[in-house]
Amino acid sequence: MLPPILFVGGKGGVGKSTMSSALACLLARDSKTLLVSTDPAHNLSDIFEVAPSSQTQQIHENLFMREIDPLSEVKAYAAQVAKDAKQFISAASYSLLESYYDNVAQSGVAQESALFDRLIRIITQEQWGHIVIDTAPTGHTLRLFKLPLTLQQWSKTLLSQQEKSHNLEGIIGHLEGNPLKDRLEERYLLYSKFNNLLHSESVGIVFVLNPESLPIEESARAIHSLSHDGLKPYALIVNKIPPPSEDCFFAKRYANAQKHLATIRERFAAFPLLEIPLLSGDILEHSGLMQVVENLRQALQSLPR
Ligand SMILES: Nc1ncnc2c1ncn2[C@@H]1O[C@H](COP(=O)(O)OP(=O)(O)OP(=O)(O)O)[C@@H](O)[C@H]1O
Ligand SMILES: [Mg+2]
Repeated sequence: MLPPILFVGGKGGVGKSTMSSALACLLARDSKTLLVSTDPAHNLSDIFEVAPSSQTQQIHENLFMREIDPLSEVKAYAAQVAKDAKQFISAASYSLLESYYDNVAQSGVAQESALFDRLIRIITQEQWGHIVIDTAPTGHTLRLFKLPLTLQQWSKTLLSQQEKSHNLEGIIGHLEGNPLKDRLEERYLLYSKFNNLLHSESVGIVFVLNPESLPIEESARAIHSLSHDGLKPYALIVNKIPPPSEDCFFAKRYANAQKHLATIRERFAAFPLLEIPLLSGDILEHSGLMQVVENLRQALQSLPR
């Protein structure tokens, strides 16, 4: 029923990691599912109460989890680039080059690029029944959708520049093969494949929000930004809807949430809405998560087909 690849995004703290985990548990009932986190501040190992690891970990028979580590990704990535670059410089400059790439590896932008690169490889090259991606707060998720198109265009420009440049061809002609050109071509194909997937029915973007003003406004802006790239959310999860209460304070919170819920139903009427109640306690695999899985299952089932 759900697309094979699901991106789960939304404002900080609305319940992205919780909903990604619940969606992955639900999907793993029928197919081999990978739950991936691209948020540098990972939470999945906390939710599943396992030790953090940058490798894929098996949680259950059909459920696997991977928290991509930006620093180790960027180090591996920079080491590869440095290796390629060594073909163009003399051995005397190797240590300079290595210290340059060590510095690059510390930059936030480089870490984010390497993290996205790993994610794109997982999505385009690994075989999973479903992949659920728990993302960092909204800005990061939107960059994740925009960056590959920029990189696709950029690698194409570099490739055509390289083909035009007789000088460069002269230099590269002396080398065994053409690593730079091969790498650019590989990247161009990778980003093109990702962009095609992003605009296909294989990918669904799910935004999580709460019945409160700020998440509503942030979701509206994110949806608007996606529309510039010809994308739209697959569904919205309205999470943490409080129950009615006799208590004065909680009755006010309930009334406020109901008011915002009505706004959400009106403003986001174009998208399927999955409404999930606020639970009374923490949500971990062994406390509360199965309740959320059940709530999600029921909400999905009640969507018009
Ligand atoms: N339906 C719910 N009922 C009760 N608590 C919830 C619910 N959904 C999420 N929570 C709790 O809210 C907190 C934030 O949830 P979560 O970590 O999933 O949000 P997030 O959007 O991933 O946050 P971040 O932006 O920091 O990554 C957690 O303590 C989680 O257990
Ligand atoms: Mg999170």
